Amino acid sequence: MGDGSPMSLTTPDQPAFLRALSGETLPTPPIWMMRQAGRYLPEYRELRAKAGSFLGLCYNPEWAAEVTLQPIRRFGFDAAILFSDILVVPQALGQKLWFVEGEGPRLEPVSDRDRLAEIDRQAGLSVLDPVIETVRRVRASLPKETAFIGFCGAPWTVATYMVAGRGTPDQGPAKELFTRDDALFRLMIDRIVDTSMDYLCAQIEAGVDAVQIFDSWAGSLGEADFERWCIAPTRRIVEGVRARQPKAKIIGFPRGAGRLIPAYVRGTGVDAVGLESEIDRAFARDEIQSLVPVQGNLDPLVLRAGGPELEREIAAVMTAFGKGPFVFNLGHGILPDTPIAHVERLLAAVRG
Ligand code: CP3
Repeated sequence: MGDGSPMSLTTPDQPAFLRALSGETLPTPPIWMMRQAGRYLPEYRELRAKAGSFLGLCYNPEWAAEVTLQPIRRFGFDAAILFSDILVVPQALGQKLWFVEGEGPRLEPVSDRDRLAEIDRQAGLSVLDPVIETVRRVRASLPKETAFIGFCGAPWTVATYMVAGRGTPDQGPAKELFTRDDALFRLMIDRIVDTSMDYLCAQIEAGVDAVQIFDSWAGSLGEADFERWCIAPTRRIVEGVRARQPKAKIIGFPRGAGRLIPAYVRGTGVDAVGLESEIDRAFARDEIQSLVPVQGNLDPLVLRAGGPELEREIAAVMTAFGKGPFVFNLGHGILPDTPIAHVERLLAAVRG
């Protein structure tokens, strides 16, 4: 799958990121970082303080657009990612959402039919209009060589937060719910699928080139549950988006799925897949990159540490994936206390 293969219906003036997602092997891989707009940047912290709250920032199109563009201006990444959060979808479904400073997200938990029916009645995608307005603004001011990525959470990961009302170490409450009441859990997943599909299509219509589906807790499911709650709902989103937006590129990120990723790629039909840092790179190259372009997988801890270990790991990632279609990224989001000099060093090393 290199240059000139039938999959590479791209032109050299397309952003490098989109050429890689179309299956081209580029001499220098495009690079961006998950959570690249965030607390490790002083300019982010400044605007975040002005906004007063994380959600206040997310729902202000002027500020959210500015925050999206900050890492592009500073580092010239090959792609910008929309500044928002995966939990705005439960909010659009009518569930209350807030963030506790220094801790993380909180939602009013949903674990019975009455609560689900109640939030269902309040559902409305118009809650997300400001986010779509952010997409339009970013599109209008993005350099033409920079691709633009939209996103949503995968149904399983979003459901884990909806059920527990917060992040959980083992996703226990969601697992308990699908074990106790499979039909109710399925209803919840179906609502998330439908809303996510509409939301991604709205982002694409407003100007994103690609979308990423974040399944941060994919790794906590056994094989049969992974098929039911991760692969099948994601496939419905992919098919639904493709039916309306045939050209949109879709990246799946089933974090922690490891050896189940080939089944995920085949089962969902995603165009490319993100790899966690912990994956066996030889396995990923032979069994995953042979199917679709891959994105990843430098350990955020190594980026924070810097030094010779960072140099070694960048080289290891390049050696493993550089000979095929590849987007350089981290295996998970950048850590807030990562020195900016380490990000600069990463870019210099990857771009040679
Ligand atoms: O990558 C980007 O730069 C785009 C923006 C983005 C954010 N969250 C901004 C954010 C994206 C793509 C996400 C995805 C997200 N959000 C995921 C999936 C990816 C992953 O990290 O596993 C999840 C599980 C969430 C839910 C969420 N949002 C949590 C658990 C937290 C708290 C942890 C933390 O880092 O604070 C958030 C808050 C959040 N989302 C912040 C940012 C920049 C920090 C908020 C702040 O500035 O106070």
